[in-house]
Amino acid sequence: MPIQAPKGTRDILPADIYRWHYIESIIRGLCKSYGYREIRVPLFEHTELFSRGVGETTDIVQKEMYTFDDKAGRSLTLRPEGTAGVARAYIENGMQAQPAPQKLYYYGPMYRYENVQHGRYREFWQFGCEVLGAPGPGADVELISILKALFEGAGFTKTDLRINSIGCPACRPAYHKLLRAFFESKLDRLCADCKGRFERNPLRIIDCKQERCKQEIAGAPMALDHVCSDCLDHFEGLKSGLSELGIAYSIDKTIVRGLDYYTRTVFEFLSENVKSLGSAICGGGRYDGLIGLCGGPDTPGVGFSVGIERLFIELDSYGVKIPEPAGPDIFVVVAAAPVKTFAARLVDGLRRAGLGAELDLNARSVKAQMKFADRRNAVYTVVLGDDELSRGSAELRKMADGTKTEMNLNNFVDEFKNIIKIPN
Ligand code: HAM
Repeated sequence: MPIQAPKGTRDILPADIYRWHYIESIIRGLCKSYGYREIRVPLFEHTELFSRGVGETTDIVQKEMYTFDDKAGRSLTLRPEGTAGVARAYIENGMQAQPAPQKLYYYGPMYRYENVQHGRYREFWQFGCEVLGAPGPGADVELISILKALFEGAGFTKTDLRINSIGCPACRPAYHKLLRAFFESKLDRLCADCKGRFERNPLRIIDCKQERCKQEIAGAPMALDHVCSDCLDHFEGLKSGLSELGIAYSIDKTIVRGLDYYTRTVFEFLSENVKSLGSAICGGGRYDGLIGLCGGPDTPGVGFSVGIERLFIELDSYGVKIPEPAGPDIFVVVAAAPVKTFAARLVDGLRRAGLGAELDLNARSVKAQMKFADRRNAVYTVVLGDDELSRGSAELRKMADGTKTEMNLNNFVDEFKNIIKIPN
C-alpha cells in the first residue's frame, strides 16, 4: 500500500498553485500599501507559549495541539496559530524599542488536531496581521479595512462582519462573577470541560461547542452588556471608525472567540458557506494583555487571521475565476540529435533574456514533444532539425492559431523578444 498524506493535510499541486500565488500577491500588495512588514516565526515553539498565551482552558490547548518531546526532553508544539509566536518574537527581539506601533504580517501553515471536515483541516494556512503598540480603536478599524480590501481584491464584496467587546481586566472579574452565578445551578448539566472552566474561566463556557452546553448558554449574561465605560468608549470608537469607512457590520454579543488572550474588541467575518460549520472565514481581536502575559512590557495588541482554504471555499461559492497563468513563452522542439547543443544554447539565451523557454528532457519524438508543448500550454513552438540549422532559419509557430513566422536563427532571441512584446 502506498503511504498516504496524514489525515487533515492536503497537497497543493502544481495545477492549483497559481490560485495560491494569486492570493499571496494580493496579500503582499495589501500589506505593502497598509505598511505591514512580514515576520517569519518558527513552526514550533515551546508548548508553554501556547498554554500561557492561547489559554489553558481553550479547546486549542486542551484538545488540538500537536505536542511532542524533542530528543532533549523539551515539550514543543507545532504552532496552532500565529499570534503567540509573534508576541514572543516581539519581546525576544526587543521590538518595543522600535517606533510604535509595529505593524506585522505572517503567512504560513498552522496545525490543529481537529475533526476534519469541509473547511476544517489539521494543517491549514493563515494570513495574519498584528498591530503591537496601538491602544486606540483606529488600529482595530485599520485591520478590518485590510480584510475588506482583501475580500474585494480577491473578488467578492458581500461580507458578514460581526463585532463584539468582551471587556478588559478592570470589568471582567465582575462579569465572571455574574456568569458563575448564572451557571451555578446548571453546573451538573455542563460538559466535563465546562465544569473545569466554571472556576477558571467561565467566559469559555459561552464558546463551548457541545450541544448540552449550548442549551444551557441561552439567557446567560453577555459580556457587552457588562463592560466598563472605557471599554464602551473603545467599542464606540470602533463602530464609528467602521461607519466612516462605509464598512457594514452587525453586533453579535455571542462572539467570544476560541482563544483566551482577547480583551475588548473581537470580530469575525462569517461565510455563507462555512457558516454551516459554525465557523468563520477569519477572526481576530484585541489582546492588550498578551505581551505582558508572555513576560514582555505592557503593550496593547490587536490582529486577525484569515484561513486561506476557507477563503478559497468562499471564492468558489461566488464563482470567482482566478486567471490561469500562460505556459512557457516557447517550447523548442529538437528534431535531430546533432541540433541538441544548438537548441540547449538557444533555450539558455532565451531564459537569460527573461523569457520562459522549455526543452524536451526525455529524448522524445517530434510528435511527442509537440504534444507535450501543447499540454504545457506553450505560447509558441519552434522545431529545430538539421534542415533548419543548415539554412540558418526556422519556423516559429503560434500554438493558439497556427500562425507561422520564419525566424533567423542567428538573431532568434531578439526577434522573439519583439514578437512576445507585441503578441499580435
Ligand atoms: P482563529 O479564529 O482560531 O484565530 O483562526 C483564524 C482563522 O483560521 C479561522 O477563521 C479560520 O478561517 C482559520 N482556521 C482555524 N482553524 C482552522 C482549521 N482547522 N482548518 C481550516 N481553517 C482554520 C486565530 O488563529 C487568531 N490567532 C487570530 C488572531 C490574530 N487574533 C488576533 N490576531
